[in-house]
Amino acid sequence: QTIHLADYAPPPWLVERVELTFRLAPTATRVLSRIRFVPNPATSDRRFFLHGEGLKTLSARIDGAEVTPREVPGGIEADVPDGAFTWEAEVEVDPAGNTALEGLYMSNGMYCTQCEAEGFRKITWYPDRPDVMAPFRVRIESDLPVLLSNGNPAGSGDGWAEWDDPWPKPAYLFALVAGDLVAHRDTFVTMSGREVALGIWVRAGDEDRCAFAMEALKASMRWDEEVYGREYDLDVFNIVAVDDFNMGAMENKGLNIFNSALVLASPDTATDATFERIEAVIAHEYFHNWTGNRVTCRDWFQLCLKEGLTVYRDQQFTSDMRSAAVKRIEDASLMRTRQFREDGGPLAHPVRPESFVEINNFYTITVYEKGAELIGMLKRLVGDDGYRKAVDLYFQRHDGEAATIEDWLAAFEEATGRDLSQFKLWYSQAGTPRLTVSEQWEDGTYTLTFRQETPPTPGQTDKQPLVIPLAVGLLNPNGDEVVPTTVLEMTKEEQSFTFDGLASRPVPSILRNFSAPVRLDRATTDAERAFLLAHDTDPYNKWDAGRALAMSALTAAATDGTAPGADYLDGLGRTLRDETLDPAFRALVLSLPSEDEIAQALHAAGTTPDPDAIHAGRRAVQEAIAGAHEATLADLHERMQPTGPYRPDADDAGRRSLANAALALLTRIDGGARARTQFAAADNMTQSVAALAALLAIGAGEDQSQTYHDRWQGERLVMDRWFGLRAGLAPAEQALDTTQELARHPAFHWKTPNRFRALVGGFANNHAGFHRADGRGYEFVTDWLLKLDPLNPQTAAGMSKVFETWGRYDAERQGKIRACLRRIAGTDRLSRDLGEMVQRMLGD
Ligand code: ARG
Ligand code: ZN
Repeated sequence: QTIHLADYAPPPWLVERVELTFRLAPTATRVLSRIRFVPNPATSDRRFFLHGEGLKTLSARIDGAEVTPREVPGGIEADVPDGAFTWEAEVEVDPAGNTALEGLYMSNGMYCTQCEAEGFRKITWYPDRPDVMAPFRVRIESDLPVLLSNGNPAGSGDGWAEWDDPWPKPAYLFALVAGDLVAHRDTFVTMSGREVALGIWVRAGDEDRCAFAMEALKASMRWDEEVYGREYDLDVFNIVAVDDFNMGAMENKGLNIFNSALVLASPDTATDATFERIEAVIAHEYFHNWTGNRVTCRDWFQLCLKEGLTVYRDQQFTSDMRSAAVKRIEDASLMRTRQFREDGGPLAHPVRPESFVEINNFYTITVYEKGAELIGMLKRLVGDDGYRKAVDLYFQRHDGEAATIEDWLAAFEEATGRDLSQFKLWYSQAGTPRLTVSEQWEDGTYTLTFRQETPPTPGQTDKQPLVIPLAVGLLNPNGDEVVPTTVLEMTKEEQSFTFDGLASRPVPSILRNFSAPVRLDRATTDAERAFLLAHDTDPYNKWDAGRALAMSALTAAATDGTAPGADYLDGLGRTLRDETLDPAFRALVLSLPSEDEIAQALHAAGTTPDPDAIHAGRRAVQEAIAGAHEATLADLHERMQPTGPYRPDADDAGRRSLANAALALLTRIDGGARARTQFAAADNMTQSVAALAALLAIGAGEDQSQTYHDRWQGERLVMDRWFGLRAGLAPAEQALDTTQELARHPAFHWKTPNRFRALVGGFANNHAGFHRADGRGYEFVTDWLLKLDPLNPQTAAGMSKVFETWGRYDAERQGKIRACLRRIAGTDRLSRDLGEMVQRMLGD
């Protein structure tokens, strides 16, 4: 059944205090709860309802007297006193049988929890909604050596430990971990001089892969103090790495739980990209302590209140730690590929959705990344000082509360005096605005006229004009900047902006730094793109000019087999040789859009994408680049290798990414000689994976793949990558066979989400392989979704998004994908998660 934002009602009962005792046993854990309820003065409703799912109730008491609650959908009801009372219950749950990885479950003999969004109801009866906040005291009884929960340690002894969390929190932030774990420890002294004991808890053998995450944690703690004035608030901060995890990580108060893929890193097992991601996710979860935990969400429709803001904060952190220009290009690129894809398809939804069936289906790139873009736009509109004042006011007003987007925007309105009623539309209106531009030049006056239009999305046909901050600069024909970056504020459907006193007709650089999440549609030429690639002072637009050149070459190659023109090839060559440019930036210019992005661009231009032609065209463009620039690429590949021991910092990683982008292209024309040499000599995972990937992409690399397999078969994270690379890079015609064979590999532990995503997701990423004309790629994925769904609905539903682009393709493929979606929809006992996804994708 569908839940609506408009139906929000405050909770009848608030919780003053929670006491929990866990008697851990794999198939029969006892959970004893003692909860003090008080009437909520904000409402006269007194219905007493507790959520619960799959709980075996052994006893229930109100103020000490045994009661028999009534079962109602999703929980229980009971008759209660008029005033405050104490609820006590004892329930039994089965962590070992919990394959959904929600609530209390087991992973490799260790107990752990995942409660966001609505997993706490699988642990005990409770008002499992984020606007009910309470301090928790937890006792864990178990023979396992390490027993952790939220808050501060409050005593321990033989077979037990207690934890006390003084900060009121919603149940979704509850966590418990018990296992045979070892700690990588450190300390952090906060800005007011308090010492915090830090621990990263992992399985024995993994402790030497925690140092990088620990450094990232300390850097995050310092950064939040320096940039946002936010200090940590407990005596301990623990992180636990878990192998079986549905998502990336979770910000439970004082006890973050991570997918081990986002904690563990050493040079020989993790790539540069993984190091950067770990740093960002450690920061993200830590930053939630203020944006999410101290101030939480009133209801799940407000998810972007914590996620958009926290993503924005982790982006700022990464820009400060690494290269701001490169980070912005990475984030903008993610928006333009994956978020625009979601926004333009059947799963489009507003940053603040208005209804859902299963909230886990809304932990999306729209809520997270577009949500973060909205924060960035707000900051652009009110300025840096206004932003800081507003955020301070937000914390000051709402600390300890469950807030809404309205509360967030009200803090901005009051702190800055700006009316944000039009801005608020960004939260409710789905879809990517398309911005068309026309230009006029007359008597030294240059006029830019913009028109915005947001296409209809499911359930939203009428769209209003949005406020769009447009960062614009102008260059003269010599390539000098004559008007530096200026932020124009567009508020109407159509609007003109003029620039006077110009000596010659300028070349505009529009949407600098990706100042708003819009699709810019401007008639231009490859010559002008090449001019901007050479002269633009804004790194994002400079990159974008190169991107547009690449895309025009790729779409031409994919439609009529045209070879790339001189504007692109020469411009690329000049960029590659420009030693004033950061290697990481040059690597971004050199790496081509993916086949999925090419399909998206063709579809947007009104052409039906042909996956095989795209695949062949992209390869032809790679060969043309390699042929035209072999000497430059070979020089970069050699010269960009960092010297000295491996370091995962931005400089060395940037050099390696340029060297490896060059290698991928060279491998297209050298038969794989350089890649084989690099693979054999590599002393770190970044270099070996780049070499292996380059070889697999030309249909070679069997030996290297075997070597990698044999060396790393005992390392689960390294093997996840192997499955992903093999399925993702196999030549299109062989991709399905290869993937099916991998699915029979003894190490294909499909119940582990990381492994499932690596193989099935890897295959779906193999664009031409997945979209093979006979539809067997779709059938393969469908079979696996249906196999996983009864065990782990959340991961199955997440993976089903590989079908969201069905509307782009030809009628035959559309029919085949829709038939698969209908097969799923018609399956008995389908989960709510997967059921909602396929229903939305089918649009009925
Ligand atoms: N709040 C977590 C994060 O961003 C994500 C948890 C999502 N889990 C889920 N089951 N939906 O950082
Ligand atoms: Zn988050």
